[in-house]
Amino acid sequence: MELLGAFLSLLLFFLAVVTGLPSRGSQTTRFVKANGTQFSLDGSKFTVVGANAYWLSLANLSEQDMEKVFSEISESGATTVRVWGHNEMPESQITPQTIYYQSWSGNKATINYGANGLRYFDRVVESAKRHNLRLIVVLMSYWNAADGKTGGVETYARQMLTTPVNHGGFFIDEGAKNVFKTYVKAVVGRYRDNPTVMSWELGHDMICMWVGGRKCPAGSLTAWTRELSSFIKSIDPNHLVASGDPGDYNKTDTDALEYSGWAGLDFEVNIVMDSIDYGTFSLSGIDPMRWIDDHVETATLAHKPLIFNKFGPEIYQEWLDKLVSAGVAGSFYWQFGSEDIRMNMPYWFYGDYVPRGSHTYRLLVDHAKAMKDRP
Ligand SMILES: *[C@@H]1O[C@H](CO)[C@@H](O)[C@H](O)[C@H]1NC(C)=O
Ligand SMILES: *[C@@H]1O[C@H](CO)[C@@H](O)[C@H](O)[C@H]1NC(C)=O
Ligand SMILES: *[C@@H]1O[C@H](CO)[C@@H](O)[C@H](O)[C@H]1NC(C)=O
Repeated sequence: MELLGAFLSLLLFFLAVVTGLPSRGSQTTRFVKANGTQFSLDGSKFTVVGANAYWLSLANLSEQDMEKVFSEISESGATTVRVWGHNEMPESQITPQTIYYQSWSGNKATINYGANGLRYFDRVVESAKRHNLRLIVVLMSYWNAADGKTGGVETYARQMLTTPVNHGGFFIDEGAKNVFKTYVKAVVGRYRDNPTVMSWELGHDMICMWVGGRKCPAGSLTAWTRELSSFIKSIDPNHLVASGDPGDYNKTDTDALEYSGWAGLDFEVNIVMDSIDYGTFSLSGIDPMRWIDDHVETATLAHKPLIFNKFGPEIYQEWLDKLVSAGVAGSFYWQFGSEDIRMNMPYWFYGDYVPRGSHTYRLLVDHAKAMKDRP
């Protein structure tokens, strides 16, 4: 018996060496973590660089097309892909080809766990894993893309709120908040132990300007951001959490809209929250050189990493150089697209993707390398 025991331990040891499994009790973690202003993985720096591809989890891609998309993204030097982890649709808009994660009948929402729902998202996560790519999963969107067919805050507003116009009520209405929390709990809980997910973002470009015809009450988006990010942390201690906000400031003396508090958010307030692990910002009307410098300064003060979440499809070398030299931890261009896949909907009406092989695409391939080559 003792000999058998010794033999088994030896066998397990060799298996662990051969498969690279972490031995029990080691500090190895396969989850991406934040370390000061950088990201880390297993004690080494992890560079977050890649593409937005919001449609990837909404298009009804075949298994081959899904593999094709992820291998093309991987070939570009990306380490991470930013995708939508939500799609909420009124029942009347759902067709047999629709991928949706929540359906609405009147003001009642139902989570879709089926093959055209969260099981489809399982396929996205598995395919990303096969290509050694990680996902930033965005749980809501302020905008409804693809000509109003991809849900977002707007669907909640139309189905649930008495003041559906200028949908800021999404952040204030207790009923809407509870429905969103129920959904968040289902998704976050499902992938809680899955390290292919790099982080959760509360929403894309979340701003609060108007509720009905009135200005969004001061601080309501800030309160929502704090409540929802803490809620995710309470369900899932493994993953990073970010707001996904576009980075606007709330300063009193300013010459520009983006610094004036107009968006109902304050980047400086969001990034220092205990339940927020890194800062996000998107290309705005401000000169990118100034916009990048200001966000780096705020993130450095907060000792947290920073991701430039959205820029493009027009992209300049100068911006890319700036991201590298200023020490921005991650960048995602908008967006990856592929000509020859079959989809249920044309997700890029506005020519808003960077064609593979284009001049801009080559700049982005070099950029991914430059981001990774930094010490
Ligand atoms: C965190 O970053 C510091 C350098 O800033 C490095 O020395 C340390 O090893 C990093 N730790 C992890 C866990 O990545
Ligand atoms: C912006 O600043 C004003 C004035 O200091 C304050 O009343 C408001 O709550 C702030 N808004 C946010 C989103 O922090
Ligand atoms: C996706 O939708 C298209 C168009 O409706 C359809 O032709 C195709 O068979 C669907 N593919 C899958 C994998 O469901």
